[in-house]
Amino acid sequence: MILKITVVLCVLLITIEKSFGNNSLLFCKQAESVQQIGDDVFLSNKNISLIQGPSGKKGPKGSRGNIGPKGSQGPQGPIGQAGPIGPAGPLGPTGPAGPVGVVDYSRIERYVDNKQRTFTSCKEIKQSNSNAGNGLYDIKDDKGSVYRTYCDMTTGGGGWTLVASVHENFLAGKCTTGDRWSSEHGNNAAHPHGDGAWENVVTFGAPESASSDDYKNPGYFNMIATNVMIWHVPNNTPLESYKNNAFMMYHTTSGFLRNYGGNLQKLFKDHYPLRDRVYHKTSGNGPSTAIVWDKGSNSVMVTNTAPHVRGETDAGYIQFRAINHERGAFAICPGVRIKAGAGNVEHECIGGTSNHAESHRHCGDFASMDWDGYGAARGWSTTRQMVESVVMIFYR
Ligand code: G3P
Ligand code: CA
Repeated sequence: MILKITVVLCVLLITIEKSFGNNSLLFCKQAESVQQIGDDVFLSNKNISLIQGPSGKKGPKGSRGNIGPKGSQGPQGPIGQAGPIGPAGPLGPTGPAGPVGVVDYSRIERYVDNKQRTFTSCKEIKQSNSNAGNGLYDIKDDKGSVYRTYCDMTTGGGGWTLVASVHENFLAGKCTTGDRWSSEHGNNAAHPHGDGAWENVVTFGAPESASSDDYKNPGYFNMIATNVMIWHVPNNTPLESYKNNAFMMYHTTSGFLRNYGGNLQKLFKDHYPLRDRVYHKTSGNGPSTAIVWDKGSNSVMVTNTAPHVRGETDAGYIQFRAINHERGAFAICPGVRIKAGAGNVEHECIGGTSNHAESHRHCGDFASMDWDGYGAARGWSTTRQMVESVVMIFYR
């Protein structure tokens, strides 16, 4: 028993010695009793030898340490791409009614139908859209080329295509520059039949300037039409006022163009060519056909006819190819026909040949409307209103 106590004490002392760094008590020898003096403990009575043995086996490996703390948050990433467009909103409510419309004759209509077709005449456009208004439209010719011209969509059911205008830029010039419907080369024996505009496929001018200069588009020679309409429009009238400013407007209803190839170019080229000193006034005149007045009347026409010519003409018609006493040929006599045997047509009819026997004063687009003075409205002269107005030609 004592031994056990001694051993325990000895171990205790060793522990104390390690704690306080005192190596003097590493060994206890033959201690038979334990005596404590002050803070010291002594072993006595028996020789107990406590010798440190060999090292034991290495203990097992300790368990794995706890997981470390979470890392701090990283920096913010770049801005992402825009998202897709959202769906359309719902249909808004119907707006209020607009103001009453004003007819705009100057607007340009590029009318095509729901099959994207461009049409070959104002008549076709009108048939496709009964609401089509007056103005400029793109028209396709028989080769597929597109040109722009003015359409009258309201007169007598509408569908009239402007194909030409005859404008007198200088009545005293007598077959000089600007006389495209007669000759720009003088009253010339070497150029007797004129420049040929009524019979050829030359084009000139523009619809917007049809009251300020001569005009001829492809429709004149490649449209297939049945009737003609003529407007007498004061020179330099803007396009949007052609209709309002015209002082005489009339059209044929006989369908006479069916008999002559469908247009005036065919009528002149194939049936009634304009040739100087080939035909005679008694047998050489071309057809005439009655007109329906849209503005003006026979009496207005007579007023605008040279006084000496009134007895030689009947108002209310259009005459094609009129031959005068001197065997010159004139293209059309707008608003009148020539009475049988009459021969002073140069004071009423326009366009034609260019080798006039009586005088160079018969030569020119408006021929000899000024024989007794420019705009004099006496003798063989017509009114100033007449000589200062363009003759517009439409087909339907
Ligand atoms: O056309 C009129 C011309 O032939 C000449 O007429 O009256 O001047 O002799 P007048
Ligand atoms: Ca004459």
